[in-house]
Amino acid sequence: MSVDVREMAYADLDGVVALEEATFPSPWSRATFADELARPHSRGWLVAEEAGVLVGYGGVMVVDGEAHLMNIAVRSDRRREGVASALLDELVARARELGADRVTLEVRAESDEPIAFYRSRGMQLAGRRAGYYGPGVDALIMSADIDEVAASAGSELILAIETSCDETAAAIMRGGTELLSNVVASQVDFHARFGGVVPEIASRKHTEAIVGVVDEALEQAGVSFADLDAIAVTYGPGLIGALVVGVAYAKGLSLATGLPLVGVNHLEGHIFASALAEPDIEPPLVALVVSGGHTSLVHVPEWGVYETLGQTLDDAAGEAFDKVAKVLGLGYPGGPVISKLAEEGDPRAIDFPRAMMHSRDYRFSLSGLKTAVINHIRHEREAGREISVPDLAASFQAAVVDVQVAKTVRAAEELGVRTVCLAGGVAANPSLREGLREALAARSIRLSVPPFAFCTDNAAMIAAAGTWRFRRGDRLGLDAEAVADLPLA
Ligand code: KG4
Ligand code: ZN
Repeated sequence: MSVDVREMAYADLDGVVALEEATFPSPWSRATFADELARPHSRGWLVAEEAGVLVGYGGVMVVDGEAHLMNIAVRSDRRREGVASALLDELVARARELGADRVTLEVRAESDEPIAFYRSRGMQLAGRRAGYYGPGVDALIMSADIDEVAASAGSELILAIETSCDETAAAIMRGGTELLSNVVASQVDFHARFGGVVPEIASRKHTEAIVGVVDEALEQAGVSFADLDAIAVTYGPGLIGALVVGVAYAKGLSLATGLPLVGVNHLEGHIFASALAEPDIEPPLVALVVSGGHTSLVHVPEWGVYETLGQTLDDAAGEAFDKVAKVLGLGYPGGPVISKLAEEGDPRAIDFPRAMMHSRDYRFSLSGLKTAVINHIRHEREAGREISVPDLAASFQAAVVDVQVAKTVRAAEELGVRTVCLAGGVAANPSLREGLREALAARSIRLSVPPFAFCTDNAAMIAAAGTWRFRRGDRLGLDAEAVADLPLA
């Protein structure tokens, strides 16, 4: 959706007055607005429109080189989508033309959201006017150098924290794309001898690592808490004991620093990993989310709207790789070892089942494949035959990939999207990447795959999704909890 910002005209006043009345307790009258429009030499009044419909407006008055921001109002169902920011950018540009070098404004002292918004745009607290809006309702005065406000457009500095599974991760990002640091402390060695993630060990290791990982991220980026605009944290889905560590630490930081807290869905983070390397990726798109805990096809008509088309009825794709590796005694995690071995094997050596490949829905089932692999191994051993592990790995991998590719291509075609994102740890699988690329290219559909480092769990992807949520004004309260089965909604 795109918002156009243009000069306010007399013809806009009906809509403007209606929005003013819906927004402010003591609204300006139509006559006051008309009077404002008659003073173009010192005023800038703008409206924001979406498909020709008024969604917001704002005004600025310039006196002696100082720009006074007047009402910025955004329709209640269009808040948190960047309309206020778009208006502010244009108002600042107008104020500059009118000779302003500073920006100042008054805001109701109890209006947390607008205050957080202006703060994120470089405005600092400059004073307080007691009873300005009536008895007991104070105004806060906020101000900033005009360059500061202009420069703050799209340059928010975010700390992101991720602890949903077995990596403790922190990242610092500017403006949603510029990654200043990306620290991942993997616990994989501690879990490997158990053949999978042990939740209790994960929580303990996160607790041990989190402070150091966050400090390291700040240090590598060369920033301090005082430079940040917000803290983003994964609050689900994942292992509850693991999530809690990141969420509790992020809450503590938010409380201590006063920085706003933004909650991110781990799966949304994986989807945003695509946009990290290819910032021009835009919905509508279909995302195939394949990780150790999830296998789902998701339709994304616009950022933030996720329609799950189907998911696995039993094991996740990554889980299947991990379980097969365990049976073969190859250690944990299984994905990387199996894909490496598969390179030397023959994918046609063993004909494993492709469950639900031709079912007319988007559901997956992987546990039958796992059982088929186990049965094959047992059968061969009983027959006294040598098993070719590379052939087995390649054949198993081909069975997984064929189904994923077939369903993803069908989803993209049926929904008519021109873009597909591959997300999650299994996106690191070269055969899946190649298979999808080929099948989609043949249909002129774009495939976006994150670089390897952003496929498995990391905080850079949480920072990217967190910046988007921060711009919308989404906040996580200090009373919010981690949610193990948080849906992608
Ligand atoms: O996204 P992720 O790091 O953690 C979860 O959110 O689950 O995904 C980890 C999963 C593991 O199951 C791992 O075996 C799998 O991703 N994986 C792979 C590959 N690299 C990691 N699976 C197949 N091929 C790979 N190259
Ligand atoms: Zn993950």
